[in-house]
Amino acid sequence: MENSAATGDFEQMLRDMIGLSTETVGASVIRHALTRRMTACGLPSLDAYRSYLAGNKSERQELIDTVIVPETWFFRDREAFAAMVRHARETKLTDRPIRLLSLPCSTGEEPYSMAMALFDAGFGPTDFAIDAFDVSSRNLALAGRAIYGKNSFRGSDLSFRERYFEALEGGFRPHEIVRRPVRFSLGNVLDPTRPMEREAYDIIFCRNLLIYFDRETQASALAALRQALSGKGLLLVGPGESGLPSLHGFTSARLPRAFAFTKEAPTPGATARSRSEANAPAIRKLPASTASSAPPKPKPRPFASRATMAPSAPASSPESEAAGLAAIESAANAGRLAEARAAAERHIAAFGPSAEVFYLLGLAQDADDAEEDAAGNYRKALYLAPDHRQALAHLRLLLQRRGDEAGARALADRLDRLTKRSGA
Ligand SMILES: C[S@@+](CC[C@H](N)C(=O)[O-])C[C@H]1O[C@@H](n2cnc3c(N)ncnc32)[C@H](O)[C@@H]1O
Repeated sequence: MENSAATGDFEQMLRDMIGLSTETVGASVIRHALTRRMTACGLPSLDAYRSYLAGNKSERQELIDTVIVPETWFFRDREAFAAMVRHARETKLTDRPIRLLSLPCSTGEEPYSMAMALFDAGFGPTDFAIDAFDVSSRNLALAGRAIYGKNSFRGSDLSFRERYFEALEGGFRPHEIVRRPVRFSLGNVLDPTRPMEREAYDIIFCRNLLIYFDRETQASALAALRQALSGKGLLLVGPGESGLPSLHGFTSARLPRAFAFTKEAPTPGATARSRSEANAPAIRKLPASTASSAPPKPKPRPFASRATMAPSAPASSPESEAAGLAAIESAANAGRLAEARAAAERHIAAFGPSAEVFYLLGLAQDADDAEEDAAGNYRKALYLAPDHRQALAHLRLLLQRRGDEAGARALADRLDRLTKRSGA
């Protein structure tokens, strides 16, 4: 595979088509996808593939299917589904069915979980309808086939599988009653002709997508979601994305660990929790099967300096932003990683996103082996402060551990340039 200059036009094309940001996912992910497609098409070079791709719509779809991250599982972040049920109960004061959207739905686990959660809460099959969109036709084909293996079932409570699935030879299949309310379609959140009507949805799940976008694309996607959400609707995003909706006019619904937002300010006393609890993170250990097989790494060490300078105060205290940061650090220093993660999320909810807090959150997740979340937060720190040395250094180490040599090298170069510029 040629160097990064040679793949620049493909990177731009993927950014234009689906919003994929090379800085976020790493150039090696894109180069890997290009190599796989060149091999699949039997083409000898990138130039040959470039000519083949030009004007070939179905190959463009194949490239999208190869480059996207399909990672998903049933009831990913349970609190999101609890928040959905609570909001559905409030919405169901009218006669019409509740309208829900899962975008991106990936291979279907998310919209099927929405249906199961609503049935568990006592809703009937005609009480709701779920639209499920994704930009990957391959994922949608798997969602329609609806046969799931063990990767789709994570966590300790799998009782829903007994109730809603039948065992087949290749895995488990949700019963017809779960599949029927879900309507899958090819859909791109960035496509101005997307099949989302204005104010069409009472509840939108847009989880673990914004994280792959740059800031401009995040803004376009959130504007589109805002249009598609009804006036009193609820938007749910992923844990790593919880700082973004409030930057684009949404208000936190203040539901702990649900990462839920409304278009309007919440009614006092309705479903609100204390501000400090709002959108605190789901404390989820990665299952052993997905734990890193990389050689043991030194635990990231938060810095003692600020923690010793600032008085210790709960991170949720609105009194002082600095005291909040110090509390995150001291929790991480003491190895209380879940506490550090929760404090960082509360800090974002209370004071808004900042490079330092995203970096500290990444650090705590890194030490807890939640590498994907950690990388996402280091990158968010770098969006806000591109010269954040520690975020650059830790992300570089993380990419190196994951075998992304090119990504790690690019960050090392950035660090070098920074050092030369500052004369340090
Ligand atoms: C990590 S999965 C998230 C699935 C699910 N929401 C969850 O949280 O488990 C990301 C999905 O986003 C889809 N995707 C990427 N870019 C998209 C876009 N511009 N519009 C719609 N879907 C997109 C990918 O195909 C992939 O299935």
